[in-house]
Amino acid sequence: MTRLSVNLNKVALIRNSRGSNMPDLLKVAKDCEEFGAQGITVHPRPDQRHVRYDDLALLKEVVTTEFNIEGYPSLDFIEMVCKVKPHQVTLVPDPPEALTSDTGWNTEKNLSFLQEVVQEFKSYDIRVSLFLDPDANMLEYAKKTNTDRIEFYTGPYAHDYYIDKHQAVKAFKEASKIAKELDLGLNAGHDLNLDNLRWFNENVENLLEVSIGHALICDALYLGLKSTIQMYRQRLS
Ligand code: PXP
Repeated sequence: MTRLSVNLNKVALIRNSRGSNMPDLLKVAKDCEEFGAQGITVHPRPDQRHVRYDDLALLKEVVTTEFNIEGYPSLDFIEMVCKVKPHQVTLVPDPPEALTSDTGWNTEKNLSFLQEVVQEFKSYDIRVSLFLDPDANMLEYAKKTNTDRIEFYTGPYAHDYYIDKHQAVKAFKEASKIAKELDLGLNAGHDLNLDNLRWFNENVENLLEVSIGHALICDALYLGLKSTIQMYRQRLS
């Protein structure tokens, strides 16, 4: 069964736009879990426009499912994550000014850097996942970093789904078989939505977790948070 982790960045963005505590991020996290989320994900960015660094320890205290922090492994990010000790850290190669993550790691070029940071997080018992494109060479080098999991960057899948869903999922389907051979756990995220989620889950082997933010929060404006989470869960069942 693929787990649904709800990304709360957009909730924090709304809160930050007014400088007050509305909506209350901790309450939303707890409610998401009550409504069926099997994990909570956040992606603190260096400008703290979404989730802020001081949200992290508070979230860790209230999340009872699985807490996943995403981000670029800068020195301050590493220090902060090791202090908070989430269940999982997902490492992305974004430059500080990135609007959103839009590419996976070049694990060959960054091998020694990634080996070091993976080792650091694992020494704190934090599971590590690397954001990756579905490319055999990148998966093989990911394995050499000693990461526990990889997370497929699904932006191109989501875009191509509306053109040709068979073609859109092809590279991911093949790469999921390689991940299995390499014994790498598999997560996925970016631009997944109520239209494209079921097809992805049906075609990609051993998908352990998806993290979904933007589309889910947009859907919740129309459908309400509870129904929306239940509908995403249903796509994964
Ligand atoms: N995975 C990673 C690494 C991300 O950076 C994001 C966006 O914060 C997501 C998943 C979720 O993407 P979306 O908001 O499009 O669902």
